[in-house]
Amino acid sequence: MQGDKKILYSAVQPTNNLTIGNYIGAVKNFVALQDEYSCVYAIANMHAITVRQTPADLRKNTLSLLALYLACGVDPQKCVLYLQSHVPAHAELAWVLNTFTYVGEMERMTQFKDKSAKHADNINMGLMDYPVLMAADILLYQTDVVPVGVDQRQHLEITRDIAVRFNNVYSPTFTVPEGIYMKVGAKIGDLLEPSKKMSKSSENQNGVVYLSDDRDTIMRKFKRAVTDSEACVRYDPENKPGVSNLLSIYSVFTGTSMEDCQKQFEGRGYGDFKLAVGEAVADRLAPIQAEQARLLADKAYLDSVLKDGAARASAMAGRTLSKVYKKIGFYQL
Ligand code: TYM
Repeated sequence: MQGDKKILYSAVQPTNNLTIGNYIGAVKNFVALQDEYSCVYAIANMHAITVRQTPADLRKNTLSLLALYLACGVDPQKCVLYLQSHVPAHAELAWVLNTFTYVGEMERMTQFKDKSAKHADNINMGLMDYPVLMAADILLYQTDVVPVGVDQRQHLEITRDIAVRFNNVYSPTFTVPEGIYMKVGAKIGDLLEPSKKMSKSSENQNGVVYLSDDRDTIMRKFKRAVTDSEACVRYDPENKPGVSNLLSIYSVFTGTSMEDCQKQFEGRGYGDFKLAVGEAVADRLAPIQAEQARLLADKAYLDSVLKDGAARASAMAGRTLSKVYKKIGFYQL
């Protein structure tokens, strides 16, 4: 807790092109939660290098994600907004936590298995150690809650296990964090294969909507979205994954409850429905894209946000790291 507010932590990787899944599962919630919690948001560039990145692109995508956070409404006056590599305590704590984590646990991680299959030529130690770095991120800030999409659930569980393990060996050191998963939108599906997570690494890019897509591209992708043969707009993820996924997207992008969304489309055909979803997405993204472009032209401002964020994050993280170093017996001057 900081003051009377609980501490909330989350991060996004600055990889090329965020999808509307990232927006719905993460960034949008970051804005909604910033008054209720004491929020710390990171740009996880150290996680990003677990798959090969072009340096110039990584730099560009870092500023682009920062501008996106700001354009979506993350307020650096209210939150700590920073770049992971600016706070060395992340790598330092990750090393310590490595000694409280078992190789077998890391090998069992679903994301590690998926990414190893996708990047068979580069199964590096960082890819396997990724969840420990994520645990360090979260635990350094004495985090109470972590809003993420369901694809990160396993990483959050291992973070909790590591925290409890450490606390049991020494004395309570880390707050054990809880995940926050949204009821609607915790797993946005691919538009062409709705039972699969919408992900930038999908083979068929027509099923993936990017935050940078223009209106025509968005409309084209939604027009092609897979539905079913029932011709009834009803939320039923099990039997109607395509339509339910579109309803989730519509609900989040228009701020309408799922019940009202279903009423709105009663008796209307899928063609109409898909157009409406596409329009809702394009309408919401247009002002965000414009604001992001405006911010990207003001590098001095973006740098000042990162500088301030790094100082504030380092102060918080440093307190936890020095507690850890003391407990494990690192001689301190
Ligand atoms: P990343 O960058 O892959 O994704 C950022 C956030 O977006 C969510 N997300 C989705 N939500 C709903 N539907 C989808 N199709 C979808 N795709 C992505 C993810 O769940 C995530 O919340 N390891 C993290 C970054 C990270 C982190 C952390 C998160 C590093 N350290 C500490 C929380 C706390 C990641 O790769 O997210």
